[in-house]
This record gives sequence, C-alpha cells and structure tokens, in this order.
Amino acid sequence: MESKLGIGLLGLGTVGSGVAEIILNPENRHPLVSDIELIGVAVRDKKRQRKISIPDQIITTDPLQIVDDPRIQIIVEVMGGLEPARSLIIRAIKNGKSIVTANKSVIARYGDEIASLANDNGVYVLIEAAVGGGIPIIEPIKQSLGGNQIKRVTGIINGTTNYILSRMEKEGAAFDKILKTAQELGYAEANPAADIEGLDAADKIAILSGLSFGGNINRADIPTQGINNLQSRDIDYAKRLGYQIKLLAISERIDSKESNKDSLPLAVRVQPTLISQEHPLAGVNGVNNAILIEGDPIGEVMFYGPGAGAGPTASAVVADILNIAGVKKLGGNGTQLDPLLAANSWRDCHLVGSDEIIQSNYIRLICEDSPGVIGKIGKVFGERNVSIESIVQFEANPLGAEIVVITHKVTQGQIKDSLNGIKQLDEIKEVAAHMGCL
Ligand code: NAP
Ligand code: HSE
Repeated sequence: MESKLGIGLLGLGTVGSGVAEIILNPENRHPLVSDIELIGVAVRDKKRQRKISIPDQIITTDPLQIVDDPRIQIIVEVMGGLEPARSLIIRAIKNGKSIVTANKSVIARYGDEIASLANDNGVYVLIEAAVGGGIPIIEPIKQSLGGNQIKRVTGIINGTTNYILSRMEKEGAAFDKILKTAQELGYAEANPAADIEGLDAADKIAILSGLSFGGNINRADIPTQGINNLQSRDIDYAKRLGYQIKLLAISERIDSKESNKDSLPLAVRVQPTLISQEHPLAGVNGVNNAILIEGDPIGEVMFYGPGAGAGPTASAVVADILNIAGVKKLGGNGTQLDPLLAANSWRDCHLVGSDEIIQSNYIRLICEDSPGVIGKIGKVFGERNVSIESIVQFEANPLGAEIVVITHKVTQGQIKDSLNGIKQLDEIKEVAAHMGCL
C-alpha cells in the first residue's frame, strides 16, 4: 500500500483547527485528502480547550519535534507572528519539507529569502491562505494570469476591517463592540491592532505586488493608514455624497520622474478610501474580501469571497496541501519543481515616494462659518493646480461648520502642499480627515 503524505501542523487555533477538521474528515472531498495524514500538531498550551478532538499523543508543545520529524513531508505553519514561525519554516525547508503557510507577516518580510531557500532545497512554499482568506488569488495570479502585464491591483483584503466598516455603515454600530464580535468570530489577528491600523492589509498588498509585478518590494516603505482614526461622521458624509468607505490596498505601476530605469516604479498604499456606489468593490460587505486586477490583455478581473475565518482559510490551506500532494503523487519530489507552483522574483521593483501617488481625495475641514471661506479654500487649491470635483458644507452652526472637499486626481504632493496652505487660513480650525477616493 502506498504510504500517506505526512502533515505537521504548527498551530491549532482558528485556522489550524479548520485544517485539522478537513484532514480528519476526508469523506466526500477530493480523493487526495485521503492520501494525507496528520502526524503531529504543535501548540503553546496543551491544556487549552480545543474546538476539535485530536489524539493527545500527536500534540506537542515543542514545534521542533514536528519540524524535525522524518515522517512529515509538509509543514503547515498556522501559528502566526514573526518568530519562531520564520525560523521554524527555514529549519523545515532545510530538512527537505515543503511549507504551506497562512502567515502573511512572515511572507511579506522574508518571502524572497524563503522562496530562494525552498528552490535550493527542492521544496515548495505555498501561501494561498496568506491573502484573501478562502479566495483563490495567489495561484491564479501565478498561474492563470501569467500571460498578462498587470497594471493595477486594488483590494479589500482585510476581513476584520471590512466587517467593522460594513456594520458601522449599515447599523451605525459602535466600533469597539463590532471589533469584539470580529475577534469572537475568529476574523481578527492575535493583536487586532494589525487589522485596524492597516498593517495586515499592507503585508498582503506587499505579497500581491511581488507576485503581480514580479519583484519584491520593501514592506516597510508602504504608506499605511488604518481605520483606527476614522470617525462615524465621515462614514455618514460619504454616504450622503453617494460613497462607501472601505479600507483599500492599492498597488499600481506608474510613470515616475525618477531616473532608475532598471527597476519598475510602483505606487502602493493602504488607506481608507471612498468608493462610489457604482464601483465593482462597492458591494463587498461583511467579512468578504475582493481583489480587482487590471491587466493587459485581460482587462478587469475580480476575485471575491470570504476573507477570514476558520473554514474559508482552511479551505485555502488544504488546497495548497493538495497541490503539493498531487505533484508528489506524480513523482515530482526531486529538485525539479513545478515552475508555476514555485515562485521567485524575476525583476526589480521599488516604491515611489508617497508625494508621487496620484488619486482623488476626500478632505474634511472644520472651520468658522463665515462669508467667503469656501472661496478662500478654493483659491488655495487652485493655486496648487488642484481641481475640485465638489465642495459641500455640512453641520453649519454658530460654533462652526464642516466642509467636505472631493478633488479630481492629483499628486499627494499637491494635496500636502494645499493642506499646508489651508491650515494657514484664519477661518480653518482643523483638517479633520483626508482619505483617498475612487
Ligand atoms: P490563533 O487562533 O491565535 O492560533 C495560533 C495557534 O498557534 C494556537 O493554537 C497557538 O497555540 C499556536 N502557537 C502560537 N505560538 C506558538 C508557539 N510558539 N509554539 C507552539 N504553538 C504556538 O491564530 P489563527 O487565527 O489561527 O491564525 C494563524 C495564522 O493564520 C496567522 O498567521 C494569521 O495571520 C493567519 N490567518 C488567519 C486567518 C483567520 O481568519 N484567523 C485568515 C488568514 C490567515 P495555543 O492554542 O496553545 O495558544
Ligand atoms: N485578520 C485577517 C483579516 C485574517 O481580518 O483579514 C485574514 O487574513
């Protein structure tokens, strides 16, 4: 009888439990699921109450026992965090094991190093679950869209924040209460600041940029604004103006003024963004994610589905395990890797400075409700060549007024300069919000 493919799980939390559930219940799934066997599981606390029943003898608190076990061919890393996750992945690769991981923080920072090491050792590192939860997006970019020149990737790629924003918009529910529910549902990171400050989305857009444009980018360079400072009045004003607010991650190739011709210039950012009701991403609510890819010759293609949670994420993890199992079943377990499953950078990319990013903008100003103030604001923008799409006054009362400006597409350098000028006006009390707008 052919021996089964041994799986070692690092982590038995939200995602790990979902993965174990599938492996231990192969009925009515692809026959390859029956060809894999859970050999060992590492956790931090053996006494913790689990959602799934796992034989006690295969659970350990020493992850090295899993990573060094010769019966295991695939390590599934779903423990999260940078260390010891990164070191365990590296050790497992050196031990000749393939890796399946959902850990975007490790891959966004060390993905290239890990991919090279994997190639040198003739093993795979597959990361489908690291972006978009259950949405197949990593392998489609690597395999199905390989013939395209990608121009832009725009994504709602954090389930927790999309869940929070959708419920704030629809029910007017309070931020902290919804975040707590998102944590209970298993959507949020161990430290939810990673979600609400936009860091998780920045990890994910770094990964998507690398795959879409062929070159690694420096994760630390991505301008990142989360939803932690977003006020419910901005959601309300956006709605009144025909927009929704979403936390968007955008990566696009641009024509830069810079002289570095050997490296592809990319404008990348994560920020709360107003999107018009007609935009394809406008209907993406709750924990769902969507990634809109614009390429040549395909045009626009959008990937949509549940972006977090045990079941969807486990679905993506198991898909990767089965990809490796399929290749191994065909005998491809030497150093000849399937080039479409293996991924490496093939050119240099770099991020342009944030002043070069071109976009429309939503700006909310708090000011005195005095005659001529809108004219003065318009003049400051006009002097910087910033064209205004609309300017609306809300909440005018003796204490002051709020003015919302939507600009046409301009550089962030022009906007920064304009806001500096506006802050000098006597009537302006505060630039209270600045977001992107699609
Ligand atoms: P989680 O619920 O916090 O589970 C983490 C698991 O890892 C726990 O079982 C924990 O053990 C174990 N663990 C942590 N550090 C360990 C250590 N040093 N040694 C041994 N075991 C250790 O996290 P999760 O939500 O499943 O997320 C896991 C990974 O998947 C993260 O990288 C996350 O970003 C990613 N991810 C999560 C989702 C999602 O929807 N949750 C979606 C996509 C990707 P104990 O149980 O004993 O504490
Ligand atoms: N915390 C992440 C999110 C999990 O909410 O999107 C999925 O990567």
